[in-house]
Amino acid sequence: MEIGNQAIHWWQTLSKQDCTAGAEVYWTAKLLAESRESLTFAGMKFAFLGAGKMAMALIQGALRANLCSPSEIIVSSRSRSGLEALVSATGVCAGASNAAAVSDAETVLLSVKPADALKALEEAGNSLAGKLLISVVTGLHILTLRKAAPGCRVVRAMPNTAAMVGRSATAIAIDSDVPRTDISTAERLFSAVGEIFTVSEIQLDAVTGLSGSGPAFIYLVMEALADGGVSAGLPRKLSQTGVKREMIPRLVEKALADACHQSNPRPCTKADFERLISDAF
Ligand SMILES: NC(=O)c1ccc[n+]([C@@H]2O[C@H](COP(=O)([O-])OP(=O)(O)OC[C@H]3O[C@@H](n4cnc5c(N)ncnc54)[C@H](OP(=O)(O)O)[C@@H]3O)[C@@H](O)[C@H]2O)c1
Repeated sequence: MEIGNQAIHWWQTLSKQDCTAGAEVYWTAKLLAESRESLTFAGMKFAFLGAGKMAMALIQGALRANLCSPSEIIVSSRSRSGLEALVSATGVCAGASNAAAVSDAETVLLSVKPADALKALEEAGNSLAGKLLISVVTGLHILTLRKAAPGCRVVRAMPNTAAMVGRSATAIAIDSDVPRTDISTAERLFSAVGEIFTVSEIQLDAVTGLSGSGPAFIYLVMEALADGGVSAGLPRKLSQTGVKREMIPRLVEKALADACHQSNPRPCTKADFERLISDAF
């Protein structure tokens, strides 16, 4: 990043001069500056509707990756408490209303619960027209979003809870008329919190079931295992710690290693599963 800033400085200085002598420096600096701009959002303004967990994860990811600065992000929410917590954790700006937040932004992130989504868009009003609308709202289809926010270019994304630790596998579905620059904006934003995959909108629903709801099933299994430990006479804290610290991480590590092992011809058989369990203990 420092190299990028220095390059911009050289480029701006040399642009004002006859730079015959410094041509080589000039072009190197220009190249570096341009490559820096292609990595960041270069002054683009973002509005987040909703100040919950997903907004926090995406904003922290974008700031951590230096894609933009806090002053380029404005967030609005229904209640002040969530908004204030996010603003004080990240330094972004608080919008007085959804309409106010959206008015100066080029890109709008819809990150409210499904039941609140249409109301949030309605509150944002006419200022949405002509903007890129990226929705992480579960189950709200592109067609519905287009109707609720006429004139927007729509991208749907399905991150998962691992976005909070930069390890999301985010699937992205893009409306037919979305230009390459908008696609790149969405890709860079979600790349800052993990891996991205472009899918069709139908596949996005399957991804929602798998990686969106999947963690909840795993939590359920963990809870049941910890309950089992308690029934067998262990104190709850010990039982929970055993599940969290030891068993699940080791199993996940092992399962990932096996899944990545391309030469394994039958990775999903009962015998492999039994071997996985016995190896892990
Ligand atoms: N969390 C995940 O792991 C995850 C993964 C994939 C997709 N998603 C999707 O992401 C969306 C957000 O999820 P989340 O976990 O961040 O939910 P959340 O923590 O409950 O946050 C939702 C936020 O929206 C605000 N809100 C409600 N109505 C609003 C309105 N009319 N205008 C502006 N803000 C409004 C809420 O304010 P209050 O404080 O007043 O409630 C809250 O700040 C959901 O649609 C969810 O399906 C979440």
